[in-house]
Amino acid sequence: MVSVAILGAAGGIGQPLSLLMKLNTSVTKLNLYDIVNVPGVAADISHVATNAQVKSYLGPKELDEAVSGIDLAIIPAGVPRKPGMTRDDLFKINAGIVKTLVEAIASNSPRAMIAIISNPVNSTVPIAAEVLKAKGVFNPKRLFGVTTLDVVRASRFVRDIRSDIDATTLRVPVVGGHSGNTIVPLLSMASTPLEFDIKTIEELTQRIQFGGDEVVKAKDGAGSATLSMAYAGARFADSLIRAMSGETVVEPTFIALAADVEGANQIRELGAGELDFFAVPVELGKEGVRRIVPLPAESITEFERKAIAVASDALAVNISTGVSFAKSA
Ligand code: NAI
Repeated sequence: MVSVAILGAAGGIGQPLSLLMKLNTSVTKLNLYDIVNVPGVAADISHVATNAQVKSYLGPKELDEAVSGIDLAIIPAGVPRKPGMTRDDLFKINAGIVKTLVEAIASNSPRAMIAIISNPVNSTVPIAAEVLKAKGVFNPKRLFGVTTLDVVRASRFVRDIRSDIDATTLRVPVVGGHSGNTIVPLLSMASTPLEFDIKTIEELTQRIQFGGDEVVKAKDGAGSATLSMAYAGARFADSLIRAMSGETVVEPTFIALAADVEGANQIRELGAGELDFFAVPVELGKEGVRRIVPLPAESITEFERKAIAVASDALAVNISTGVSFAKSA
């Protein structure tokens, strides 16, 4: 029985995500917040015959109330990419939006789990961490960057070339971050052995890393992934909710590699080095991150090791951009 707030609920991701969360029978309260159009979205979704009570919150004056008494906040607020833009181009606008929203959560529901979808995730999650630290309520086990879409794409893109694989059950751990070459699918550790040749691995890795561009290009100026992202966001939120009620669930997600997070050292040895954040398969429990699932070093291929090194260099820049913004704003 959880109370969920969706911040940015009237957007391309926010609307289908709100609908999917309304369908989640563990959700008892669904607070929908946006700066535009949210009363209509909330009224519409509130008629769906599940037990969750839907409420609309419009504009900054209603933000505090929207995030009071919640167990989980999901944040898809912000601007999406247009053709030719990278996720980092979004930083200027989205950094400030995420900062404001996380400040409100920190003040009103300091123990809430926070799942950030707003890009660039590699920088917005470090911003959120700094905001929570400044408020004295940072818990690295309760803050998540949502990278589930990379995991979802990995399963689906494998299925595109291997029709014998079930995309609904195949799990490929995706580590690193959430943009371009910071996305590192570990195809060698897929839940079903794939045994691809190196050319296939290179092509598949490239497609998973830049899969978002396929959608941006096809939408031709009308935005980036929204429907598949809503599916991925709802899957991540459901995993978190099931974990909060006692199940053990594993999902890759971008988290702080804090000293008290079990498994952080192994990820550092694997290539994360001194980075403070990294996407890793996480075992979720009642209190959020229970531990990082060990990734056996001997199973990682040379190709993957190199990809992790490239990802780590780029991530170092993205993370420090976020931290500097939060400290100076
Ligand atoms: P959109 O423009 O359709 O919707 C964004 C919503 O945020 C709008 O309704 C807007 O009014 C709202 N918003 C803007 N400022 C706000 C504020 N201060 N407080 C609350 N709400 C505010 O954009 P879309 O397509 O839904 O994408 C949202 C974000 O998600 C983008 O940053 C996008 O890059 C990111 N994204 C992340 C993915 C991931 O895998 N993590 C995948 C796809 C998109």
